[in-house]
Amino acid sequence: MADMAFTGPDPDLQDLLAARPQLQMHAQDGLCLEGVPLNAIADKHGTPAWVYGAGTMRARYAALRDAFAAENVPMHIHYAVKANDHLAILNLFREQGAGADVVSIGEFLRATKAGIAAQHIVYSGVGKSEAELETALAAGIGQINVESAEEVEMISAVAARLGVVAHIALRMNPDVDAGTHAKITTGLAENKFGIAAEDIPALYARAASLPGVRVAGIAMHIGSQILSTEPYRLAYAKAAEMVRALRAAGHNVEVMDIGGGLGIGYHDEPGLSPSAFAAMVRQVTQGLGVKLMMEPGRYLTGPAGILLASVILRKQAGKRFLVLDAAMNELMRPAMYEAWHGILPVDASAFHTATSPADVVGPICESADIFAKDRALPDLRPGARVALLDAGAYGAVMSSAYNARPRPAAVLVDQGGFELITKRQEIPALWDGEIVPGA
Ligand code: LLP
Repeated sequence: MADMAFTGPDPDLQDLLAARPQLQMHAQDGLCLEGVPLNAIADKHGTPAWVYGAGTMRARYAALRDAFAAENVPMHIHYAVKANDHLAILNLFREQGAGADVVSIGEFLRATKAGIAAQHIVYSGVGKSEAELETALAAGIGQINVESAEEVEMISAVAARLGVVAHIALRMNPDVDAGTHAKITTGLAENKFGIAAEDIPALYARAASLPGVRVAGIAMHIGSQILSTEPYRLAYAKAAEMVRALRAAGHNVEVMDIGGGLGIGYHDEPGLSPSAFAAMVRQVTQGLGVKLMMEPGRYLTGPAGILLASVILRKQAGKRFLVLDAAMNELMRPAMYEAWHGILPVDASAFHTATSPADVVGPICESADIFAKDRALPDLRPGARVALLDAGAYGAVMSSAYNARPRPAAVLVDQGGFELITKRQEIPALWDGEIVPGA
């Protein structure tokens, strides 16, 4: 199983920058996101802070939409809320015409709060509670992607009780290796996700006989950070075969939800090309006559976000350490998946000076609190700012308040300006809602 640790040499600072047109280095202002100096944002809102580029997200949404349009494949894009669930960002994708893919009632309510209509929301996930199903169905959720036989019965019972009919799709586990990190692969038989192909026809028939559900079709999601079209091709071919088999058995199959997972470049690997992906989807689904839906998350938001941090101090202890004011509780991906994130100095002078290897770490009392090992970086003094790149997906959403660290501010850059979209959490808010018995 591939993991995210890279064996080849790291791209140098110039290469990192050159591969990311959303970032620019200005001689005076230093590193900019979409033309806005990160120093100005840090001066105003402090660090650590999340910074997201609205233009980058819109451009990536457009690239995906246009890739399908170029292939003449009508595609309904449901943004995977879990990648970055900020209301401002959900609102941005709603404005672009996206629906949402959610995996909890909290995400469902977030998406509706951002103005995404319930009928444009798809509800995925292996374990939806009855209470969650009830809220979603009462609000008129568009589709529920079902992951087990037991869930079909639960949904039908809840829907019948409410006097509604739930539109469902059966999530098929294609038993295909997505070639990604073991912790984010979902389409192997051994994974907890989806329903085995051999069980789908009987379950489809059973669902058709239940009063509270209407089976609309097949859903699939084989994993995340997938960099090749080949695992998709295999998986979608199996889905297409299933659609034909179900129809031959007399069933109605109207939709095929092909999930998300499109990978981006973190190190020096090229991200999955939307046009190659769209061409593959056209080939595999040609003539199938289904409504196609997809659920991308990382592709849309990952490269658009950075985690802006400051060096607290330098430490020489056999090797060189740079201790940042950001830590694994903010960006978990390196600790959790050995993920590689680029790190750029914000000041232009530092960007142009000689580098030497340093371990970039956070202040948390865990050995896993490391962003980068032996990373070639210039001398960065206390107070120097750095940008941790490609942190727009699975960054803030996966953060915690471990070590009683309040949540950072978040800022949205748009059209040459920037706006605060989440206030930095006040420390007393950390114990909001806590009760000391007898006190
Ligand atoms: N649909 C379903 C059913 C999913 O489970 C996921 C992601 C997506 C869509 C969106 O996948 P994307 O397009 O973002 O790859 N925390 C990990 C990634 C976990 C992905 C979980 N499911 C990471 O930081 O790499």
